[in-house]
Amino acid sequence: MANANFSEPWAGYLVQAQSQLASTSIPRLLLLLVVNIPVIAVVLNVLSQMLPRDRSLPPLVFHWIPWFGSAAQYGQDPVEFFKSCREKHGNVFTFILLGRRVTVTLGPKGNDFVFGGKHTVVAAEEVYGPLTTPVFGKDVVYDCPNEVLMEQKKFVKVSLTTDKFRDYIGMVDDEVTQFLSTDPAFRTYQMDDINEWGSFSVYKTLAEMTILTAARTLQGKEIRENMTKGFAELYADLDHGLTPLHWMFSNLPLPSYRKRDVAHEKMSQFYQNILRNRRNNNVGYEDDVMASLMNQTYRDGRPIPDHEIAHMMIALLMAGQHTSSSTTSWVLLHLADRPDIAEQLYQEQVKHFGLPGGGFREMTYDELKKLPILDAVIRETLRCHAPIHSIMRYIRDDLPVPQSLGAPSEDSVYVVPKGYTVLASPALSQMDPLIWKDANTWDTTRWLDAAGMAAQAKREYDEDTKVDFGFGLVSKGTESPYLPFGAGRHRCIGEQFAIVQIGTIISTIVRKIEMRLEGPFPKPDYSSMMVVPQQPCQIAYRRRKFD
Ligand code: HEM
Repeated sequence: MANANFSEPWAGYLVQAQSQLASTSIPRLLLLLVVNIPVIAVVLNVLSQMLPRDRSLPPLVFHWIPWFGSAAQYGQDPVEFFKSCREKHGNVFTFILLGRRVTVTLGPKGNDFVFGGKHTVVAAEEVYGPLTTPVFGKDVVYDCPNEVLMEQKKFVKVSLTTDKFRDYIGMVDDEVTQFLSTDPAFRTYQMDDINEWGSFSVYKTLAEMTILTAARTLQGKEIRENMTKGFAELYADLDHGLTPLHWMFSNLPLPSYRKRDVAHEKMSQFYQNILRNRRNNNVGYEDDVMASLMNQTYRDGRPIPDHEIAHMMIALLMAGQHTSSSTTSWVLLHLADRPDIAEQLYQEQVKHFGLPGGGFREMTYDELKKLPILDAVIRETLRCHAPIHSIMRYIRDDLPVPQSLGAPSEDSVYVVPKGYTVLASPALSQMDPLIWKDANTWDTTRWLDAAGMAAQAKREYDEDTKVDFGFGLVSKGTESPYLPFGAGRHRCIGEQFAIVQIGTIISTIVRKIEMRLEGPFPKPDYSSMMVVPQQPCQIAYRRRKFD
């Protein structure tokens, strides 16, 4: 019987394998196994994706490597990745991102699903907390219950008033003027020769201008005075703790983590010292954000502890920095690329603020809000370059997806299981060729057409039903295809401040210099948490005759 079996063709192979096994020592066998584990894992992973799946689960994006999933494609260009997945799976699909199961819901209805979800089910703190808590600090933003965050947003909003913005315009203008007159990057400007061209690194320059102007306005006198004395280094160490790596692993034994923690502790103490000094030494201080936080209490009557005030100030500093500096950088890059639009912007300034003998008078807040070209330039730049490409929430309970977004069949729905992450991408809906005409073109005129798509999106965003989530009435706006400042309960509270800051920086620069692009228009860099222009990117400039 045994002999008969050996006459089969595969029997020879069996014998060979058996003798090989007999001659293989245990360590070699282990080595063979270890070497082949990755291959086995990939094979099992691929096979598992071929098995029939629970039909209520959103379709899974094919990936070779378990755990790692589609991280490379997503990290390289999230918007293109989403577009290619949409072609295959529609508006709802799940991809694997370093062990997380992330369900993407695209389009205005997808935005509404994520931004408009109940916070008891669709939660931000589980997703963002591990990244932000070591940087901002304990007991604020995503290190506290959502109701407390809503109160904290209200505290800050109290001090972001129209009256304050009126003062801020002069301060921002002053900081930018001083920067151009003193920073080594603007030597050519300082030479006062209108025929000479110089060059500046746009993102670096705007990062510096943004932090200086935020310090002068929002952060208060003491912070502005300390900007050059070590504060910048602390800021940099904190900032280097806000990367995709720190998001995935909130604590690793690496230098950037240690520096982040040291910087947080020093920064927190720095703010708390200012607080103590203000209280105990009876020093005069301005009516700034910190002053406003010192005088408010939680609904239950509890004053805001010093460490919370300090941590809120850090959170504000970090939340406004890359968002505003990358937006202003993109604006200048587009203006340098399109001198005709820069000229329109300049002429708008001349028309409204030009003085008879040359030069300009100061803008007021109410005037800034009514400049159509400036408004169109900022809106169009935010449409094409949303600094935050992915808005994520953690799913605390199984969540059915509305049929209108996508479904396995006419009489069933997809369900996003508890433990998944959901993701909306306004960056895609803002540039979606299915929604916008010439979606990929930076075209400021679309915002000047009262009957066009942009006007409709703006109405949906700014004039939708008003809701109070605990920090004052805000337009719900979750279904607009254009939501650069987010929507719903996590909507940005820095929106109006950012418009004042960005609008004033641009106006001051356009009044003083002409710009041209040096080299090709830079591509977006998705490697950090925010979308910024790829480096190096330089702008050539020359001083205008009257500034
Ligand atoms: C929230 C964008 C400037 C403070 C947000 C969100 C977006 C956003 C998209 C929603 C995030 C989410 O839903 O997960 C922007 C853009 C800015 C900007 C594009 C500038 C161009 C600022 C500034 C400040 C600020 C200057 C501070 C003064 C905040 C805060 C939140 C927020 C506190 C609330 C976070 C939450 O409730 O979870 N911002 N932001 N932002 N932003 Fe901004």
